[in-house]
Order: sequence, then structure tokens, then C-alpha cells
Amino acid sequence: MLVLLVFVLPKIVFRNFPGPAPDSYLYGNVKYVPKGGFPAWLLARQREYGEVFQVWLLQTRVIVLSNADDVRFVTAEMNFPKSDGFVSGLSPFLGDGLLLIDNNRHKAQRRAIAARFNQDFMKDLHLHIEATMASFVQILDRAADEGSVLDFDAEITKFTLNVICRSAFGSNTDFLNREDELPSLVDAALRHSAKYLVHARYTWWLGKLAAPALFETAHKVHEFVLDMIRARRSESELARDERPVDLLDIFLSVPGMDNNYVASEVSTFLFAGHDTTSHTLAWLMYEVVQRQDIMHQIQKEVCETVVLKEGENGFPWPSFDQVRQLDYLNMVWKETLRKRPVTATGTYRVITDDVELPGTKTKLRKGTEVLIPPYLIHQNERYWYKPEAFDPLRWTRENSLGRHPYALQAFSSGPRNCIGQIFATHEALVVLAVLFARYDFKLACPPEDIMEFHSLTMRPRLRRQSKLQQHKGAQTYLPVRVFRKSSKA
Ligand code: HEM
Repeated sequence: MLVLLVFVLPKIVFRNFPGPAPDSYLYGNVKYVPKGGFPAWLLARQREYGEVFQVWLLQTRVIVLSNADDVRFVTAEMNFPKSDGFVSGLSPFLGDGLLLIDNNRHKAQRRAIAARFNQDFMKDLHLHIEATMASFVQILDRAADEGSVLDFDAEITKFTLNVICRSAFGSNTDFLNREDELPSLVDAALRHSAKYLVHARYTWWLGKLAAPALFETAHKVHEFVLDMIRARRSESELARDERPVDLLDIFLSVPGMDNNYVASEVSTFLFAGHDTTSHTLAWLMYEVVQRQDIMHQIQKEVCETVVLKEGENGFPWPSFDQVRQLDYLNMVWKETLRKRPVTATGTYRVITDDVELPGTKTKLRKGTEVLIPPYLIHQNERYWYKPEAFDPLRWTRENSLGRHPYALQAFSSGPRNCIGQIFATHEALVVLAVLFARYDFKLACPPEDIMEFHSLTMRPRLRRQSKLQQHKGAQTYLPVRVFRKSSKA
């Protein structure tokens, strides 16, 4: 009887709603979704069933939305809360940080953090990027001189983790050149979280069985951060006044927050602040190396608009203000966020009232879970002309006129949108300006050998891994060759 109620009945009741029939009563629709291919699988269903359709994630019915008016309603107008499945799946690692905290507590927490996430903070960020760039340039120079192949995605991920760690703790980390336990711990915590998120939809203990190392790894990151917090709490006022403000200072200044809360917030920023920016940069590289016209246009803009100076560390360095003049590069960045949104499957929300969605006129009952995948919205022809094309010029002022303001969902929308989008954009433009001023890049494999691989975020990945890599458990993500430009700027 219980089996009938839980596994069978709901699927019969909702059988007339658009969407694929469940493949099995136990797994719903997820049994045949290719590993890492959930966004593309959803897109194929959207093409078949339209802008609103249902899928069964194990026993949960989830309504997938890709109409921008529906998205505005759910994220901005109603700001429906994040679903339990999403929150409990990620909370072993991210705890009560901004990404997962409930709506009631979110407002005050976000306001307190946002107030100090200001221009001065961004100027310090600029310095952290410069310090990290000094190490990155060494690695790229070496790859260029040796003619070796570089895994751009792996290196740029170390880069962005280093920048966010320096911004978080004001530390002098150098993950690109020095062995450190933290990057592998964070990476492991993310991989285990992705597994836990899927399996915990059955029950938490199945999640625990699927990702046994998650709790230990998350605990280690947490302990590392707690040590930093304790040291910071005992810091003298004089020492504090003499150094720039970092994220830890910001979190510690939020009223009424204990050490565990601060540690959750740091873990949240470590995750959200590096894994997203790095893979977007890798996708941008992947797109641009296939389009010499775009690469040359970027190089031309960087050389003409920005007076690149040899910085102290011996590489061309744009000033803070010069970064804002890189209009074309910014368009290439936005187009990458559109075509390859790394948070491809997006946000899960739960509807808390019976409603009718304004765009598609779909009626949803209180308690229904919805999913808002940027990957689908960004391929919706209603908003994007030839969505499959990589075309930075769709972002000129003229071409953007009249576009639906919610058609770009890379950073989500409404009160729970990305707090770090200015941070990410500044970091990306600086890195790209330096890279394209100093080097040419070529893909070291045929473009079709690179596939989209989605776990918590969507990254590029080499389709055919060598036997040796498989044996060592290492993956190659984006192999590129680097060439020094004959004239640097
Ligand atoms: C290309 C880079 C980035 C992309 C595409 C991105 C995307 C997103 C998206 C889609 C969300 C909403 C998630 C949801 O609804 O569940 C989000 C939230 C968030 N992001 Fe980002 N992000 C990026 C960079 C960053 C950076 C650099 C930081 C930190 C410095 C950051 C910190 C956060 C935080 C804390 C939240 C939760 C905000 C809240 O609920 O108030 N992100 N991001």
C-alpha cells in the first residue's frame, strides 16, 4: 500500500502534465540521464515539451521553467524559497551560508555583507589578482617555452581559488606553485557534495552511503576555517588597522553570528567564488581559440584601449579603472555566460501558494518544486536569435534593446541572485586582458573532443581520457598550447 502511495500514485495523478513519462517508478526520469549530461538532457526535453514541463527526480516531481516571465515571477516577484532537496543536499558542506540560508534570515545577512562588498574591497581584490597573476604568468611562460600542453581549466581553477582565499583571509597563499592541502580538500568536498545532492533526494542515509567521505572532508575545511577565525578574533586592533579588509572581517562584523556561522559563510564563498568563475573562463577560452577573429579583436582592444604597463612583477597590468573600458572583452564574457552558463541546471525553488505563472499561464499547487535552468532559458529562441551561435555582438547596446531583462539568468535574479557578480566580472576581465595581451592560445585537441560535463557546475572536459589519466584518477579538462606574443602589448 505504502509503495503504491509513494511510488505509483503521484505519477498517475500528474500523467497528463507535459513531460517525459517516468522510466521507472523507482528512479523516475533520472535512470537514463547520461553522467554529467543533465543540462543537455533537459534541453532536449524542452524542445519536445515546451517552456514548462515536469520531470521526476526519483520520487520528486519537479517543474522545469524556461519562460522569462515565469522566472521573474518565481525569483523576483514572489522570491519563493529554495527547496528542501537543494538545501539539504548542499548543507553538509555549505551550512547556513548565504546560498542556503532560509529567506527569513537571508535579508539581514545579505544586507550586512553587501554593504561592505564595496569599491574599496574591489580595489583590494585587484591586488590579490595581481599577486596571483605573477604565479600564473610563470606557469604560462614555462608552458610556452617548453611547448607543453597545459590544462587550462585546472590551472585557472587553482587561480580563482587562490584569489578568493586571499580575499577571504588576506593570506599569501600560492596554490599555483606551492603544495597545499586546501585546494584538494575543497575539490573533494565539491565532488562529494554533487553525489550527496543526487542521492539524498531518497533519504539522507542513502546520500551518506553514496558520498561517505563528504562529512569528513567538509569537517576538515570547516576546522581549517575555524582556526583562521579564532586567530582573527584574538588579533590586536593595531594589527587589524594595518591591513586591508577581507571577507573574514566582513563576516565577523555581521551582528549575532557565531564562529560556526562564519565558517559556513567562508565555505560558501570559497565554493561560489571560484568554481563558477574558473569554468566560465575556461569556456571562454574554448570558444575564443576556435575563433581567431574574436581573439584578434580582443587583443586589439586590449592593446589600444588599455595602456598596459609592465607591472612590478614583469607582466602587462591594467589599472583598476582601465578594466571598465574593455567593452568588447566584456561582451565576450557575457556571451560566454549566456552560451555556457556554469550553473547550468540552476536553482530549485518551492511554490508556497497556489499560483498561475504569468508567462505560460501554468497553474501550480502549493508545495510544487520548480527548477530554473539558465541553460534552457539561454537557448530559448523567444529571447535569443540563433542561440546556438557564439556571437559577442549580440551584446552591443543596439542589439540589446528590447531584450527581456530576465532572459540572462547566469547570475540568477531577484533577492537571491549572485552577490559576487561584480567581483567575478572584474576578476575575469583582468585575467583575460593580461592573458590575451601576452599570449596566443590554441586548443591541443579537436574542438569536438571537448564535452560539457555537469556536476555542481558545468565545466569543459576532454571526452577521451588517456588510460594513464584514468588509472591515476586525474582528468584533463581543457588542453591548450600557449605561445608568447612577439610584441607584448
Ligand atoms: C561567473 C561567476 C559566477 C556565476 C556564474 C555565479 C552564479 C550564481 C548563481 C546562479 C547564484 C544563485 C544560486 C541559486 O539561486 O541557488 C549565485 C549565488 C551566489 N553567488 Fe555567485 N556566481 C559567480 C561568482 C561568484 C563569486 C565570485 C562569488 C563570491 C565572491 C559568488 C558568491 C555567491 C553567493 C554568496 C551566492 C548566494 C547569494 C544569496 O543567496 O544571497 N558568486 N551565484
